[in-house]
Amino acid sequence: MAENLMIRISVKAICDKKAQREKIAVLTAYDFPFARMFDTAGVDMVLVGDSLGMVVLGHQSTVPVTMRDMLHHTRAASRAVKHALVVADMPFGSYETPERALRNALRLIKEAGADAVKLEGGRAVEKQVARLVKAGIPVMGHIGMTPQTASGLGGYKVQGRDPKQAAQILADAKCLDGLGVFAMVLECVPSALAAKITRQVKCPTIGIGAGSGTDGQVLVMHDMLGIESGVRPRFVRRYAELEKTISRAAQDYIRDVRSGKFPSKAESFE
Ligand code: KIV
Repeated sequence: MAENLMIRISVKAICDKKAQREKIAVLTAYDFPFARMFDTAGVDMVLVGDSLGMVVLGHQSTVPVTMRDMLHHTRAASRAVKHALVVADMPFGSYETPERALRNALRLIKEAGADAVKLEGGRAVEKQVARLVKAGIPVMGHIGMTPQTASGLGGYKVQGRDPKQAAQILADAKCLDGLGVFAMVLECVPSALAAKITRQVKCPTIGIGAGSGTDGQVLVMHDMLGIESGVRPRFVRRYAELEKTISRAAQDYIRDVRSGKFPSKAESFE
């Protein structure tokens, strides 16, 4: 294991990467083995995203995800991580008021082992973000296409194409930055807007479908590993084809069981 993988990365170290022009690599993970593999590979942050509602739990959106789901999966992922910063998503309905946000963020940190929390929205969640930051909780913002309120945005669509909407997203970014978020996700916004925000905010920006001008990138693990989730957004690059590999392995196993080839003598006890 490389030297720096032995040390737990801090929020400050993540922030410093922006000044050092070092790109930040983030992947989602929702359980122990994947969090362990990504951590050992050297990701800077493991995001226990509420995307788990869709890619793990089979929901149609992230809306049904509960605090119980997030606590359960964050516990599993955080047990595995030795180096990366573990960021847990606050699910829909868990941060409507500053006090509720504080109570639930503290649960994710104290009970489930998260280092930081992420919540969606800009100026609309100003009071919640301010409350968490005041309590010393590292907060990651998430603006642009916000899946928890995607329906109100017209679905999973690029946001900020027209100048008025772009100005609103920029104002949201500046608001979050001013409140003291340590980083923010920019999801599905035009590259030029993401680059402009990245230049104008102090904190690192983490893009997903936001081009190459952000300070870092995040992908949902199932998308980048080629495990089908029903959609294949254009911004995803596939680094593996696990759905095919796993299906083939399962088929080979079924064939061997049915033909009596498995188990062999060597795989059995005398
Ligand atoms: O829930 C999630 O996985 C996310 C990422 C897509 C940024 O919020």
